[in-house]
Amino acid sequence: MCGIVGYIGFRNASDFLLDGLHRLEYRGYDSAGIAVFHKGEVAVRKRAGRVCELDRLIETDGVEGTVGIGHTRWATHGETTDVNSHPHVGGNGEVVLVHNGVVENHNSLRTQLQTLGYVFRTTTDTEVIAHLIAHHLEKRIETDGEICTHEACVEVVETAMRKIEGTYGVAVLFRDCPDLIVAARAGSPLVVGIGRGEYFVASDAGPLVGYTEEVVYLADHEIVALTSESIDLLHRDAGKKSPSIQVLDQVAGDTSLGDFEHYMLKEIYEQPQSIENAMRGRFDESEATAMFGGLNLDPQQLRRVDRVVLTACGTSWHAGLVGEYLLEEFARLPTEVEYASELRYRNPPLTDNTMVFAITQSGETADTLAAMRECKRKGHPTLAICNVVGSSIAREADGGIYLHAGPEIGVASTKAFTSQVTVLTLLALYLGRMRHLSYPAGRRMIDQLREMPDKLRKALTCHDAVREVAAKYHGFNNFLYLGRLYNFPVALEGALKMKEISYIHAEGYPAAEMKHGPIALVEEKTPSIFVIPRGGIYPKVMSNLEEVRARCGPVIAIACEGDDTVADLADDVIFVPDVEEYLQPLVTSIPLQLLAYHVALLRDCNVDRPRNLAKSVTVE
Ligand code: F6R
Repeated sequence: MCGIVGYIGFRNASDFLLDGLHRLEYRGYDSAGIAVFHKGEVAVRKRAGRVCELDRLIETDGVEGTVGIGHTRWATHGETTDVNSHPHVGGNGEVVLVHNGVVENHNSLRTQLQTLGYVFRTTTDTEVIAHLIAHHLEKRIETDGEICTHEACVEVVETAMRKIEGTYGVAVLFRDCPDLIVAARAGSPLVVGIGRGEYFVASDAGPLVGYTEEVVYLADHEIVALTSESIDLLHRDAGKKSPSIQVLDQVAGDTSLGDFEHYMLKEIYEQPQSIENAMRGRFDESEATAMFGGLNLDPQQLRRVDRVVLTACGTSWHAGLVGEYLLEEFARLPTEVEYASELRYRNPPLTDNTMVFAITQSGETADTLAAMRECKRKGHPTLAICNVVGSSIAREADGGIYLHAGPEIGVASTKAFTSQVTVLTLLALYLGRMRHLSYPAGRRMIDQLREMPDKLRKALTCHDAVREVAAKYHGFNNFLYLGRLYNFPVALEGALKMKEISYIHAEGYPAAEMKHGPIALVEEKTPSIFVIPRGGIYPKVMSNLEEVRARCGPVIAIACEGDDTVADLADDVIFVPDVEEYLQPLVTSIPLQLLAYHVALLRDCNVDRPRNLAKSVTVE
């Protein structure tokens, strides 16, 4: 995780660096820091806490200069203290750097460097890189009797990075070369922005929006040397390359809070609009199907697909589970949903005609990227369902479908989930119409999908009822979330939302599985949240609900409007609009998002920035 930025040019560097760090804060918010060439030396300012803490520090102890680097941290090695914050200093201050990634062999390198006399000031893995670069610089100057030149700086970064096992995106300043930034990447994304008389570096394109429209995405093992007037790119093995300049097609999305108190609440309320955006322009009325611009596969290839693998992490994995049910029901395609963190190291037999979809909001999740690369390596068409335009996964996939949900800033994913489910429904319709799904069935799905933004608006009117339920139950420490078929993934997702923002232990289960173990947890202090809208399996879920009641477990039901039977049985009920079963996740997930939100508020938790988490998980 972590976000890094760099600037070299004519502006006050700290203005860009701080602005960029705010935009990258979704990647981590344990600490933040910058280093700027200031009055002939590299001045470092860093502090544990959010970027706004760093803003305050800079207000009182500013640094002026036109070259600098910055970092916002999600701690992997070493506590979240001022001293462990980046930038880190190597040697006697010859090298200052920021790093996103993990140095897996940091222990052995640390021992070697300590033997050579290097003194470690922090408990981070990153300091190893700083000393290693300083060491190679010192050696080179000693051997060649050379002063610190640009070429020497690039070379020593290259030599040092060859010794690193793990992942990195780094930006490095050299005390004796004040007009240079060297940046390098392996596994952690880096993008260079090209201006007139200035260059920018960032972990993703977000910080560059509004500063430049020309970018170079670095590939693994590329190193770039930037001065205010030049960019030199080389690949560790292939040598010098000319940079491939692309146009940044990212526009600054709406990142304001508007009238909302938190991003999470704003994003929950954006869902009628965001699912509409996911559908816009994607219906082919005359063929009663969906259409996508970017799959990059012709109908023949798509017809030959005989199996689908959906791979993702967290909430996106839950959306994938809904996708599995949809693709199997409507397209009759055998579908598997794989945790990306498992798939990347497993070797499941995949047929030649298996199509792989990586599902990701950020497009930067390290495990999802690695799983996608592994499938690509084996020759499968690998596509992405992604929100962030220009992200690593969006760029590396063979094709894909954007969510168009707009920026999701709250760490707990909400609107991305419903947009992913919407896109997967369109995909099931599209692949279904190429196979067994009839024209009238396709028309019906289109009509039903078109109604969903209004259904979501209606679902949001449960807000007051949810607030009351939250007030009643926020003191409980264990929750069960139970649902079946399309609502099983919703139960998992509801439990995840509760865990991650209110720190309450919550388990999601298929309602009928409960009697194979988890029912032992049921007692007066363990509420069960039943996702029980009407549908084919309703009487079965009702029996499961009775089983919990018989053991004195409090029951909160998410049910269809007007369902008096459930209302009579449950201790509390929250109503959602009645929709077709395959569309239920879009409405039933809303009260669960709101419930997690209100419980977290009542427990005084930081809703948008929950502890230990980051919006984009760019480490393994
Ligand atoms: C939970 C949440 C995470 C993400 C997961 C994957 O609310 O946000 O579980 O869903 O880290 O992230 P993306 O979708 O960006 O790959």
